[in-house]
Amino acid sequence: RYRDSGSGEKMNPFAEQEAWEEHQIGKATLKYGSKDRKQKSDDFQFVFEDQIDFIKESVMDGVNFEDELPAEALDKSMVKSAFEKLQEDRKTLPIYAYRDDLLQAIDDHQVLVIVGETGSGKTTQIPQYLHEAGYTKRGKIGCTQPRRVAAMSVAARVSQEMGVKLGHEVGYSIRFEDCTSEKTVLKYMTDGMLLREFLGEPDLAGYSVVMVDEAHERTLSTDILFGLVKDIARFRPDLKLLISSATLDAEKFSDYFDSAPIFKIPGRRFPVEVHYTKAPEADYLDAAIVTALQIHVTQQPGDGDILIFFTGQEEIETAEEILKHRTRGLGTKIPELIICPIYANLPTELQAKIFEPTPEGARKVVLATNIAETSLTIDGIKYVIDPGFCKMKSYNPRTGMESLLVTPISKASANQRAGRSGRTGPGKCFRLYTAYNYYNDLDDNTVPEIQRTNLANVVLTLKSLGIHDLLNFDFMDPPPAEALLKALELLFALGALNKLGELTKVGRRMAEFPLDPMLSKMIVASEKYQCSDEIISIAAMLSVGSSIFYRPKDKQVHADTARMNFHTGNVGDHIALLKIYSSWKETNYATQWCYENYIQVRSMKRARDIRDQLEGLLERVEIELMSNSNDLEAIKKAITAGFFPHSARMQKNGSYRTVKHPQTVYIHPTSGLAQALPRWVIYHELVLTTKEYMRQVTELKPDWLVEIAPHYYQMKDVEDSGSKKMPRGVGRASQD
Ligand code: CDP
Ligand code: MG
Repeated sequence: RYRDSGSGEKMNPFAEQEAWEEHQIGKATLKYGSKDRKQKSDDFQFVFEDQIDFIKESVMDGVNFEDELPAEALDKSMVKSAFEKLQEDRKTLPIYAYRDDLLQAIDDHQVLVIVGETGSGKTTQIPQYLHEAGYTKRGKIGCTQPRRVAAMSVAARVSQEMGVKLGHEVGYSIRFEDCTSEKTVLKYMTDGMLLREFLGEPDLAGYSVVMVDEAHERTLSTDILFGLVKDIARFRPDLKLLISSATLDAEKFSDYFDSAPIFKIPGRRFPVEVHYTKAPEADYLDAAIVTALQIHVTQQPGDGDILIFFTGQEEIETAEEILKHRTRGLGTKIPELIICPIYANLPTELQAKIFEPTPEGARKVVLATNIAETSLTIDGIKYVIDPGFCKMKSYNPRTGMESLLVTPISKASANQRAGRSGRTGPGKCFRLYTAYNYYNDLDDNTVPEIQRTNLANVVLTLKSLGIHDLLNFDFMDPPPAEALLKALELLFALGALNKLGELTKVGRRMAEFPLDPMLSKMIVASEKYQCSDEIISIAAMLSVGSSIFYRPKDKQVHADTARMNFHTGNVGDHIALLKIYSSWKETNYATQWCYENYIQVRSMKRARDIRDQLEGLLERVEIELMSNSNDLEAIKKAITAGFFPHSARMQKNGSYRTVKHPQTVYIHPTSGLAQALPRWVIYHELVLTTKEYMRQVTELKPDWLVEIAPHYYQMKDVEDSGSKKMPRGVGRASQD
């Protein structure tokens, strides 16, 4: 137990206890009897002493260590099967006491707004209650979630509770992944997927109940669904509609749905002590880690787990690395800390880890994105650390630029986050911002996504559903008119709508693809350039979401060399993606090949999956699968046919200027063209980090712009000589 720490010094068997006690009284210097170890923990100690004293004060006082469990209870639960245990757990959820009342209310009313704290059992239990009450005899029960991970993990949980195989009676459907079958009666899905189902089944005839869950999140798709389900409920009196939300802002939902009754599930809520920093934290990531370690070393393990909110995958991975490094530095002197990351792109097999019970003597620290705010309930959390930020989409309707920015959260979010610590007992929430910030700087509520996003995709979907009068669509909160017009303009430019704003044949084909309109257009255009085979591979690679390359710290040079191999000849990032996909395919999708080339196998498998589905959709829109792999120009022209609005011309010092709505941008350093700096480029997307970067860039001949999009570009836009470029605006697609 008291292993040598490496310095050769004999350890005092009581050192651990002493050090522990020193932590307890708050003047810790992490003295473990080894200089070596003291050295390693220096940075930790620094913050320990002066950076966030508030923690010392708050964590030190009066935490109760109660983990008594009657002996018989323990014995009893040990002989029970896991299935029986789950059935008992179901009965302990707050919603259980209201099961019959709830079913009665659903029976009595067509539309019901349901409000209950996160973790009360809305998502997992309500569909099961409805199934038990016979609703599935008349049709499926659909339950929408704003997030993929939530749809998957909740479906997995419910299938366990029902003792069935996932994908049979209980399934889920998310973009590019359908885990349902003929048998499926409880279907969890993303809100975006239900939106797409309207295209094939405009009255949702296969459903007896639709539950729009997590309604408070107000995602774009959820907001659009509100309008659509409200409409079909009028002519389908047999359809039950449930709108469920974790916040008390239910009146708004009720008003919107013609004064639908509100069913409140009283939650179990334990007091949560909220602590603020005395001064703003310059580095919230570091402050969060230090706070977590502080809690871990000062509080008994078994007393509760820690949940930290970060803004995204990258931050979570960094935090994970630092935490591992620092706890390694503390050796066996501290109890085991189990680090559990959770974010949208985390592979499914790793997601389950956050739900596993924490072993005795250890503590779990969950590093999560906003997903843990209300979508997922993790039991056993006692401490929440809230840096106060999230990643949020913002959209400039004037320029049509969309960016994902790290933004302060709203008060409503902050309170949801804090609430996560008080589910199973009294909790504590450490806000890494000041009380002044909270009261004066944070907005009360998050602005609904519909008011801060590009609407092109949604407009195309609505148009294909035959909804023409978008300005008068029944929005709960209407989007800015400017954003709607911008979307119409873009769809017109892409040829998806005609001058009257009606869907064209191209638009109809585009709508079949669950992709952004520019990507869909690229695919539809590939027919003309006879390269649909190559284009769907590129589209699949662009849609993977997580990164393709793997760059281990100790092999960065090798990894970069491997990556640059695909860029030989400055072919551009799109063609490089194609080369990667084709080379992998040639090896018969070999995993070994991925290792050798520093490519993430998982990302490639996903690309292959997506590609297969795109191939199926090509068939549906009657585009032949044609390969034209030697004609790179044809492939680039097809890309241009979708992405011509994203063109940029080099200025000076490696900076670029976008041709329409001129703005200074740069080629992302990870691009294969970051050194080559071609004069004209087309890009897939802009990301704002330290600068406005173009990601996935390909060289372009300016003539193509005029050739492919003559309604969008005139010769003078693309002439190299002129100094002042004021492109003429595109003709506005009219409203009908
Ligand atoms: O939807 P709501 O927030 O009201 O609660 P829920 O998601 O139905 O969760 C109810 C309970 O199910 C949680 O407290 C967890 O104990 C459990 N659960 C789980 O163990 N694993 C999941 N993937 C989802 C829920
Ligand atoms: Mg829920």
